[in-house]
Amino acid sequence: MADLRQKRVVLGITGGIAAYKAAELVRLLVMDGVDVQIVMTQAACGFITPATLQALSGKPVFTDMWDARVPDNMAHIELSRGSDLIAVAPATADFLAKLANGLADDLLSTLCIARECPLLVAPAMNRQMWDNKATQRNVAQLERDGVVILGPASGDQACGETGLGRMLEAQQIYDEINSHFAPKLLAGRHVLITAGPTFEPIDTVRGITNRSSGKMGYALARAALDAGAKVTLVSGPTSLDAPAAARVERVESASDMFDVVKKHAKAADIFIGVAAVADYRVEKTSTHKIKKTDKNMTLKLVPNPDILAYVAGLPRPPFCVGFAAESRQLHENADAKRRRKKVPLMVANLAQDAIGADDNEVTLLDDNGIHKLARAPKTVVARQLVAYIAKLFQGRKKKKA
Ligand code: CTP
Repeated sequence: MADLRQKRVVLGITGGIAAYKAAELVRLLVMDGVDVQIVMTQAACGFITPATLQALSGKPVFTDMWDARVPDNMAHIELSRGSDLIAVAPATADFLAKLANGLADDLLSTLCIARECPLLVAPAMNRQMWDNKATQRNVAQLERDGVVILGPASGDQACGETGLGRMLEAQQIYDEINSHFAPKLLAGRHVLITAGPTFEPIDTVRGITNRSSGKMGYALARAALDAGAKVTLVSGPTSLDAPAAARVERVESASDMFDVVKKHAKAADIFIGVAAVADYRVEKTSTHKIKKTDKNMTLKLVPNPDILAYVAGLPRPPFCVGFAAESRQLHENADAKRRRKKVPLMVANLAQDAIGADDNEVTLLDDNGIHKLARAPKTVVARQLVAYIAKLFQGRKKKKA
């Protein structure tokens, strides 16, 4: 996540049913301290009222070229001049066509043409309209012109059909705007991340797992993408949505996770092991559901491979980061783990505190000593960690050169 305070964003809204999602997007941006100026087309006002958006953004909404509030009557120049970004969400097929052809017949299209800042558009339309050759031609042209196209997503549509054309969710558009502003500290780097719990089967229906939610690993994947990295996320079972730009490999057991990590580790510049990997698996899994008896039952467990130690031990290892989940003597145990696994950076947290929660309080242990980060939402911790990792990674490269 980038620091969005003081950023000025023009949010354009055009006439589609997805305009209702713009209200949530405004809320997310305003909560982050963004100065949001809303510009609506006349058609957009048929779907959501300017009054709603004015209340959410805390600023008057512009809907017309001829707005007497701008003394020189040049709202299109005034509004685009001081902006850091223009985002249009939703962008209808008609609006994409206008943009692709340089038409400027209302305030929003005119200020898009008069802009000096980047333009992001989130298309929203019926799947046939999206598939239409003219729309596809317009989208290709906009990409050539440097306009960033966000989505669309696939799924249920307001018209009752299912397919590609739905606007991305407000949170996803917010993430993309964030990503746009984040410093590109890891541009061109490949970051491999393990996240979530593992599930070690006992029989066809039962297994051993843990309470890891995957939130920290997924937040790191998002932050690394925002920093310009290519991200491969190897995830155990979670209910989270992975960032669309990440390559996601879904696995269940530690052995599966190990196989997938081995496949990607050599090409990675940075490896971050966030997954709560089960230390043991059942030696013999049953191919049938085990039947109940009135006798005691013993499961024989055998150790799983240590994925982090394996990657750190490769002949030319990526820069390795581990997460130590401890229940006591946090620093001593985490440092011992760091030395044992031979990783340059270990992130220590209290297991009972971090697992499943939205916040985290972590301590970083590396050759420079111990460095504590203040308790914060995992998304914020992830951004700070990525900045720290990028700094150590650059330092390591310099030392090698
Ligand atoms: N890890 C791993 N493979 C394992 C076990 C752990 O890659 N089989 C990684 C985790 O992803 C994490 C780090 O090692 O980055 C530390 O995990 P943690 O569970 O704290 O430590 P363990 O090595 O499992 O030791 P213990 O359970 O005894 O604390």
